[in-house]
Amino acid sequence: MEKGILILDFGSQYTQLIARRIRELGVYSEIYPYSLEIEKIKELSLQGIILSGGPASVTEKDSPLVSPEIFELGIPILGVCYGMQLISHILEGKIERAVSREYGKANILIENQESVLLKGVKNEGIVWMSHGDSVTKLPKGFQAIARTKEGTLAAIENAKKKIYAVQFHPEVAHTEKGKKILSNFIFTICKAQKNWNMKNFIENEIEDLRAKCKGKKVVLGVSGGVDSTTLAVLVQKALGKNVTSIFVNNGFLRLNEAEEVLTNLRERLKLKVDYVDASEEFLAYLKRIESPEEKRKIIGRMFVHVFYGYLKDFDFLVQGTLYPDVIESNAVKGPSQTIKTHHNRVKEVESLEKLGKVIEPFKFLFKDEVREIARLLGIPDDILLRHPFPGPGLAVRILGEVTQEKLDILKKADHIFIDELKKSGWYEKVWQAFAVFLPVKSVGVMGDERAYGNVIALRAVTSVDGMTANWAEIPHEILDNAANRIVRNIKEINRVVYDITSKPPATIEWE
Ligand code: XMP
Repeated sequence: MEKGILILDFGSQYTQLIARRIRELGVYSEIYPYSLEIEKIKELSLQGIILSGGPASVTEKDSPLVSPEIFELGIPILGVCYGMQLISHILEGKIERAVSREYGKANILIENQESVLLKGVKNEGIVWMSHGDSVTKLPKGFQAIARTKEGTLAAIENAKKKIYAVQFHPEVAHTEKGKKILSNFIFTICKAQKNWNMKNFIENEIEDLRAKCKGKKVVLGVSGGVDSTTLAVLVQKALGKNVTSIFVNNGFLRLNEAEEVLTNLRERLKLKVDYVDASEEFLAYLKRIESPEEKRKIIGRMFVHVFYGYLKDFDFLVQGTLYPDVIESNAVKGPSQTIKTHHNRVKEVESLEKLGKVIEPFKFLFKDEVREIARLLGIPDDILLRHPFPGPGLAVRILGEVTQEKLDILKKADHIFIDELKKSGWYEKVWQAFAVFLPVKSVGVMGDERAYGNVIALRAVTSVDGMTANWAEIPHEILDNAANRIVRNIKEINRVVYDITSKPPATIEWE
């Protein structure tokens, strides 16, 4: 890794957030599993180490540990939550199951105003706790620097050895001055320099691609979404005409989307794109399939079949894998592993990987970093600000069996809703918005006649990362216009509803 901060992951849901915060501060950071051997750690060019939180308890046997040698390397260390318990456990402190577990907000009282770690943190400031254990006896050579109002040790240090630990989570937005604490650690204690920005990243990546692939045939898949489009532009910038992007139409795209994507890629961004229209095959394979999971699996398998079947003569496959995908497959434990199998981790890719034929330039990046690259590469806003769209597309927005007729209805309804949002300036204000086809019929009256038609649900949410979401409070007038246009223009629909559930407990998509 480049010079920077190593984060050892003990499985916390917030580990990625630590890496992001540090990169936001302009310092490179990478996450490795906690089990990274001490010899490997010594080989990295490190300025500091962070031990993340995690679901385990050091009071149980087989809890994840690190080699005690890590504390003797002379590299500054910050333990966060489980990381603090771990430091205390290994360095002869005492950890007990807390009588009452602390979750959520707590106020901290600073005991040592001189502490460099907490410089700039207010007494009684709010921190975010999420733990069941607490340190009840300080490890050897350590001092308490803050407690919660309830008396729990909240931060400790051994300033001489540059080992620090906090029981709360400085990386979450709810911890006031959390970023300041991380900044104190990184800059004042670790003396790291700002070395991370996307402009440097682009330059380095272009150089690497040229070194590796000059004169070779390179292929990649594009969907018209932000990640794959940005990747295609970057790779083409580096390698020119030897790059071919492949766009597979699975038939579940939105109204006129295939044409728009092709125009964007070919004419506006000047990319060399091969178009594979497999829409009939995809639809045929979904016949009579109603279960959402089964639909997703079939579409995933079909994509792999079509895409890899198309690839013939090439030297390298470039993929837009992002950091969260990589970490998911390395996770210590926890739910993230089972969420989904990505197209970019199937066995076809694994065998190409073994041959050294797969390149993943974004595998250390987060989505917002890719957006910044897109901006720096001059990709126009209307492409850059497109809402996320799921791989299985409209097939997971038609509940139950997917048919051509339902697809045609949904495409029209979705187009009307998005058009109303764009006209009113609301498209950019929401994370995602779309229509869903419900396979229920309800009675209505159209003209003087009884109508028995289908229902369209409209969904719009606000979110930062898609992990949690709120339903968007779109003004009634816009919803009204969308609903009126939908029932007027689509004869099969006589009722429109708006989804007002957040995630959790609902998900953003309906399937
Ligand atoms: P859910 O429905 O799980 O969705 O709340 C969270 C975000 O992920 C998108 N999504 C997908 N994206 N392939 C993708 O590339 C998929 O299979 C998939 N399923 C959901 C969804 O649109 C939302 O932005």
